[in-house]
Amino acid sequence: MKKPFVFGVAVDDAHFIGRKKEIEQLKSQMQYGINTILISPRRWGKTSLVKRVAKEVANDQLKVVYVDILYCRNEYDFYNTFASAVLGQTASRLDEWKQNAQEFLSRLVPKISFSPEPNHDFSISLGITPKTYKPEEILNLPEQIARKRGYNIVVCIDEFQQIGDFADALTVLKRMRSVWQHQHATSYCLFGSKKHMMSTLFQQRNHPFYKFGTTMYLGLIPAEEWIPYLCQQFEKEGKNLSVPLAEQICKMVECHPSYVQQLAFNTLICTKTSEVSEVNLTEAYENLLDENTPLFIEKTERLTAYQMNFLRAIIAGIHQDFGLAAIREEYNLGSASNIVRIKEALIEKEFIDITPDGIYIADPILEKWLQKRVF
Ligand SMILES: Nc1ncnc2c1ncn2[C@@H]1O[C@H](COP(=O)(O)OP(=O)(O)OP(=O)(O)O)[C@@H](O)[C@H]1O
Ligand SMILES: [Mg+2]
Repeated sequence: MKKPFVFGVAVDDAHFIGRKKEIEQLKSQMQYGINTILISPRRWGKTSLVKRVAKEVANDQLKVVYVDILYCRNEYDFYNTFASAVLGQTASRLDEWKQNAQEFLSRLVPKISFSPEPNHDFSISLGITPKTYKPEEILNLPEQIARKRGYNIVVCIDEFQQIGDFADALTVLKRMRSVWQHQHATSYCLFGSKKHMMSTLFQQRNHPFYKFGTTMYLGLIPAEEWIPYLCQQFEKEGKNLSVPLAEQICKMVECHPSYVQQLAFNTLICTKTSEVSEVNLTEAYENLLDENTPLFIEKTERLTAYQMNFLRAIIAGIHQDFGLAAIREEYNLGSASNIVRIKEALIEKEFIDITPDGIYIADPILEKWLQKRVF
C-alpha cells in the first residue's frame, strides 16, 4: 500500500521534496572527493538527503557506502560495523563479497548468515577484535579496496555523534583523522544530530576533526516547498486541502519536516468528507500532541527540577538574562553558576537551542506540549 505521508524514517522518491541546493552541493562534494560534515537537529532530514544523493552519484567509478553507527557503543563495535558495510557495499554479489573479505581481511573467518526471506540481504559478522586487527588497518580498508579496484569510495557515516559517547572518544577520533587524512581515493560524509556535540567535534580548533571537511548545516524545508506536496498528496486520496490550510499545517509545526508529514497524515485521517476543514486540522494537531506524549514524558522525566524550571521560564517567555537574580528567584534556578550547568545539560539533551535572539525550546511540538499539558 502506498503511504500518503511518511514520518520517522528516511524518505525517498515520492515523499522526498525540496533540498535542491543541498542536493547539488552534497553531490559535487561527493563527486570531487571532498569530505562533508552534515549537521542538523533530530529528524530534519539528514539521512533522507544523504541517501538521495548517494543514489544519484553512485556508479562504477564511485561507490557509496552507508554506515549507521547508532548502535555502536565502543571502538571495536564501530570497526566491525564499518568494515562489514565497506565490504558488503562495495560488492554487488556474495561471491564478490567473499573475495573482498579474503583479499582484504585475510586474518578473519567471517560468519555469513542469510535472511530466511528470499531476495533479502545476507548479514555478516566479522568478529574483528584488537587481537586480529589494528584500528589503523580497518580504517584503511576502504582506501585499500578503492585503490586495488581502481574506483573511488565515499563512506557516509550516519549518527556520527555516537562516537562522542565512547569512553575513549578522543583517542578514537584522533586515530580516524590520522588515517583518513592521508587517503586519496576515499572521502567521507559524516553526519549526525546533537548539533552541539557535532559542532564541538568538528569546529573546535583543538579537536582532531577540526577542518576535516566542509560543514553543511541542514535547515528546514520552507512552506512554499511543502504546500504543493501536501495538496497533491491529499488530492491523491480524493480530498481537497486548500492552500491556506496547507500553509497552516506548516506554520503549526514551524516547518519541521517530520512533524509536517505527521500532522498532514493526522489531518487526512480526521477528514471524513472530501474537503479538509480547520476543525479537522485542530483535531489532528491535538492527536499529534497525544501521539508524542509518551516520548515527551520519557524525555522530560529524566530532567532535574532545576532543568524543568529552566524550561518553565522559557515557556513563560524568558529567553535571555537567566542569570539575573530576579529571574533566578522567580523560577527557582539556583545560583548563577548553576545556570551554566543547566544550559549545558539541556543543549546536550537537545531540549534547547541558543539563537542570536536568545534561548528557545528546540522542538515546537515539545514546546506546545509543555505549555498546554505541563506548566
Ligand atoms: N526532503 C524531505 N522531504 C520530505 N520529508 C522529509 C524530507 N526530509 C525529511 N523529511 C521528514 O522528516 C523525517 C525524518 O527524516 P530523516 O530520518 O531523514 O531525518 P534525520 O535528520 O536523519 O533524523 P534523525 O536525526 O532521527 O536521524 C522523515 O520521515 C520525513 O517525514
Ligand atoms: Mg538520520
